[in-house]
Amino acid sequence: MTAEYKVHGDIAVITLNNPPVNGLGFATRLAITDALAKANADAAVIAIVLTGAGKAFSGGADIKEFGSPKALAEPNLLSVILAVENSAKPVVAAVHSVCMGGGLELSLGCHYRIVAPGCSVALPEVKLGLVPGAGGTQRLPRVLGVEAALNMIVSGEPVKSELLASVPGQKLFDKLAASVESLAEEALAFAREVAAVRPLPLVRNLPCKHPLGDAYFGFARNMVKGMAKNFPAPLKCVDAVEVATKQKFDQGMLTEREMFINLMWTPESRALRHIFAAERAASKIPDVPEDTPKRDIQSVAVIGAGTMGGGIAMNFLNAGIPVKMLEMKQEALDRGLATIRKNYEAQVKKGKLKQDKYEQRMALLSTTLRYDEIGQADLVIEAVFEELGVKEAVFKELDRVMKPGAILASNTSTLDVNKIAHFTKRPQDVVGMHFFSPANVMKLLEVVRGEKTGKDVLATVMAVAKKIRKTAVVSGVCDGFIGNRMIEQYSRQAGFLLEEGATPAQVDKAVEKFGFAMGPFRMGDLAGNDIGWAIRKRRYVEKPDLKYSKTADLLCEMGRYGQKTGAGWYDYQAGKRDAIPSALVEKMIADHRTAQGITPRKISDDEIVQRLVYSLVNEAAHILQEGIASKASDIDMVYLTGYGFPIHRGGPMLYADQVGLFNVVQSMNHFAQNPLDDAKFWQPAPLLAKLVADSKTFN
Ligand code: NAI
Repeated sequence: MTAEYKVHGDIAVITLNNPPVNGLGFATRLAITDALAKANADAAVIAIVLTGAGKAFSGGADIKEFGSPKALAEPNLLSVILAVENSAKPVVAAVHSVCMGGGLELSLGCHYRIVAPGCSVALPEVKLGLVPGAGGTQRLPRVLGVEAALNMIVSGEPVKSELLASVPGQKLFDKLAASVESLAEEALAFAREVAAVRPLPLVRNLPCKHPLGDAYFGFARNMVKGMAKNFPAPLKCVDAVEVATKQKFDQGMLTEREMFINLMWTPESRALRHIFAAERAASKIPDVPEDTPKRDIQSVAVIGAGTMGGGIAMNFLNAGIPVKMLEMKQEALDRGLATIRKNYEAQVKKGKLKQDKYEQRMALLSTTLRYDEIGQADLVIEAVFEELGVKEAVFKELDRVMKPGAILASNTSTLDVNKIAHFTKRPQDVVGMHFFSPANVMKLLEVVRGEKTGKDVLATVMAVAKKIRKTAVVSGVCDGFIGNRMIEQYSRQAGFLLEEGATPAQVDKAVEKFGFAMGPFRMGDLAGNDIGWAIRKRRYVEKPDLKYSKTADLLCEMGRYGQKTGAGWYDYQAGKRDAIPSALVEKMIADHRTAQGITPRKISDDEIVQRLVYSLVNEAAHILQEGIASKASDIDMVYLTGYGFPIHRGGPMLYADQVGLFNVVQSMNHFAQNPLDDAKFWQPAPLLAKLVADSKTFN
C-alpha cells in the first residue's frame, strides 16, 4: 500500500505509506488523487488531513523511479498538487520528520500546514543540478519571503521546522504542533477548526515581492556565481525565484518547468544524479545479499601508528569506537599519539571540534606494545611498512592472538591480499581496507576482496565504512587495485607529454582547467615523487617491455622528491606550498629530449586532457572486464572521492559515456599512431571495443 485512507469521524486522513521516506512514486501519486476524490465524494467528510507514515512526511521524488518513464507518468507531481489545490474541501498537511523536495512542494499545494518540531525541511534539487520542478521556486518565496526562500533553494540545505516557524511574517506553517506524538490529534482538531472557512487559502494567491527588487537579485547572483563555479543550477535558482517576483503565478510555473527540464539535460545535472545513484550502488555487492548477517564491531585495533595508522584510528575515534594502537617501540607509539593530538588540537583551535568532544575521543584511544593485549578487538587493521615479510610476521601474530571471528584487515596499497590472507589459518576473515592519505580526511575506502574473503566479512566492512563515513568501493585483488592501477597509466601519459614537448605547468594547468583538483605534477610533489619511483623500479624488473618516460626518474636522481625536500617538479619557497615553475627541471627535460633525439612540438591542452583522461578510461575498461570492479559507477566513485576527478563531470566512465565511446576510441586510435607514445596501451580494451560495436555505454 502506498497511501492509506481512513475517516476519523468527519475528517478524512490520507497517510502516505511508501517506505523508507514516502517517496512520491507513481503508485503513491495515484493513491493520493484517488483518496482525494473519495474524500470529496463523501458527504460526511468536512476536511482532509494529508500526512506520512513512519519516519517522514515525504522525502520527495522516489529515487527508485529516477530516469524511468514512471517518474513522469500521470498523475505527475504537478497534477497531484493541482488536485490538492482544487479540492473543494480544505486539505491540511500534517508535516513531520522529513519534508523535502517534492514532499515540500506537495505540502505547499495544501490549504494549510501544521508541522511537528524537529522536522527537516528542504528543497534539495540544486544538489542534483536542478531547480525544484513542481512549484517550489514559485510557492516557497510566497510563504517564507524571497530571501529566506532563495537561501534554502540555492543551498539545498535542510532547515528545522521550529526555526522556519519562527521567521516573522512566515506563512509556511499555520501551526507548530507541540510534538511529533501529538501531531495527528492536533491536525484533526485544526482541520475541524478551519473546515468551514471559505474561500480556501491558496499559496499561489499570496503576493511575492522583494523591496529592493533588481538590486537584491543582482547581489544574489554575484554571491552565487562565486560559489557555483562549474554548475549552472544555482544561478538558475536565483532566476526562478526572481521570476516568482515578476511573472504571474501560472506563467512562473511554466518558466520554472522549462528551467527544470533544460537543466535535466545538462551534463552537470547528469553527473550529479549519476553520483547520487552511484554512491548508493557502491554499497551493493552483486553476490552479497543485503540481508547477509554482519559481525558486531564494537572495538578496533590498529597495527602501526605511522602516517596511515594514526589517520585510520581517528576515523573510529570520531565515530565513538574505541581503538587500541600497537607498535614495536614506545617512541613510535608516542610519536603516533602526538600526531593524533596535534590533528585534533588544530581542529579545536579552528573551532571545528569542541574541547569536550576532543577529550572524549582521546579517552577512547589506548596503546600497547604487546599483541596479547589486542586479541579481543572485533576488527584489526594493519598499517605497517609495505613489505611482504613484515606483513607476514604481523599476520602470523594476529592469527595467534585474535579471538575467533575477528576481522583481520590490511591497509596495503600494493601487496597481494590473497598472499597476506594465507599467512593466517583463517583467510575467510582477511580483507583489504585501503584508506587514502590523509586517512582521517579522504572519503574513499577501497575494500579489497580476497578470493577467500567471507561474504559476512565484506558486508560487515561495508557497514563499518558507512559508520565512519567513508565511501566504500569493493575492488578485486590486482596490482594497485582500482584507483592506483589506473593512475599508473595516467602518470605514464604525463611523462610522455613532457618528453614530447609539454612542461609540467602546462600539463597541470590543462587538467586543472578541465576540473581536476590538482594536475599530475603538483600531485606528485605533494605525495612524494619517490613513491612512484619505487613502483617503477619494480615495474622495470616485472615488465621490462613497458614503456616509460625517464624524466621522473631523472627528477628523483636530482633528489627532487617534492614538497618534503623543498623541490620537485616545481621549486618551493621555504614554508610555502606555491608551485613555482623550475628552470632547472625544464633544462633537465630539454636535455633529456636532446639525448633521445626528440624534437619538441607544441601540444594542445585538448590533447593533454584527452590522453590523461582516456588513459584512465581504457585501463578502467580492463578492470571492469576482469571483474576487479563490478560496475562502471564504482570506478567513478573511486576517482571522484579519492583522486579529485571533477564532480561536475561525474567520473571518468560517465565522462567517456558523455563524450561518446565511439569518439573516445577514435582519439585512442589516433594516439596509437604517435611513435613516442605507447601504441600497445592504446589498443581499446576488448570491453570498450565491444561497447562501441554495440552502440552501448559504460553506465
Ligand atoms: P609509515 O612508515 O608512516 O608507518 C608505518 C608504521 O608501522 C611505523 O610507525 C612503524 O613503526 C610501524 N611498524 C612497522 N613494522 C611494524 C610491526 N611489525 N609491528 C608494529 N608496527 C610496525 O607508513 P604508512 O605510510 O603509514 O604506510 C603504512 C601502510 O599503509 C603501508 O602498507 C602502505 O602501503 C599503506 N598505505 C599508505 C598510504 C600513504 O599514502 N602513505 C596510502 C594507502 C596505504
